Amino acid sequence: MSKVFVTRKIDDAVIDELKKSFDVEVWDSEDEAVPRDVLLKKAKESHAILTMLSDQVDEELLAHASHLKVVANMAVGYDNIDVHAAEKAGIIVTNTPDVLTDTTADLAFALVLAAARRIPEAADYIKNGDWTSWSPYLLAGRDVHHKTLGIIGMGKIGQAVAKRAAGFDMNILYHTRSRKSEAEEQFGAQYKSLNDLLEKSDFVLVLAPLTNETRGMIGAEQFGQMKESAIFINAGRGPVVDEEALVDALENGEIAGAGLDVFEKEPISKDHPLLSMKNVVAVPHIGSASTETRFIMMKLAADNIKAVLNGEKPLTKVSG
Ligand code: DGY
Repeated sequence: MSKVFVTRKIDDAVIDELKKSFDVEVWDSEDEAVPRDVLLKKAKESHAILTMLSDQVDEELLAHASHLKVVANMAVGYDNIDVHAAEKAGIIVTNTPDVLTDTTADLAFALVLAAARRIPEAADYIKNGDWTSWSPYLLAGRDVHHKTLGIIGMGKIGQAVAKRAAGFDMNILYHTRSRKSEAEEQFGAQYKSLNDLLEKSDFVLVLAPLTNETRGMIGAEQFGQMKESAIFINAGRGPVVDEEALVDALENGEIAGAGLDVFEKEPISKDHPLLSMKNVVAVPHIGSASTETRFIMMKLAADNIKAVLNGEKPLTKVSG
């Protein structure tokens, strides 16, 4: 019987379904990543692994995984996997595209709103008992409607954010590898050079995947180009942004605030300077974290495993 290793506790219904056909083992923790040595050992013994974005599937792991046929990542991003090395070893890699598009776009837009309207700060204010009287500028934030949103990385999630932004009468700019005529026609999105987008946007939203080309693409120079009133949002991958430069830009007033779902190193340390800034809204990589969507992601990852181990075509294969 083929062996499947699942690197985190996922829904019992998904595991039970896999157990009907395979010998399944689960790293039974909801919040602790599988230790590296356990992952290496299990990958070596298994025919399939169902991984999280916190698991590094690199050359070292793949070199020892002589039975492995498929790595099913429970995420749309797969920068934690050396897809090229997997392809060379004849191992299929799959991800979970499409099913999380709207949920992740909701979170990205929620960060725009939360950072602009200072929602977490206002929530703390009232809970701390600081509210003594109404006053005209009490916790006054910035408008979102009719402002300019610059989206860097206009994939499916970027386009779903554009749809939401159009509903807020926003002016939408975007920068991405190839033009998206549908978003231009449907939401009036305008394609811009990166420089132009940075200079003109009130909200700069990064959704680009992490690749060799995008690593560190937003740094000191790019923050310097943004408006002083700009709010910077990252809902893509942390290392696309030079975090030290982001801290400097916020400290020096080069930009007005930030909304962050992703960080250079995750989990971010609680002493990180970003977490003590009032004008930073930070959440722990929860872009696709609705119970409905997470269940669908788990199921899709399991269905990919089932397909490959049964000799069928995977549903959502990625290529390097
Ligand atoms: C993904 O699936 O890549 C997202 O970052 C998860 O929230």
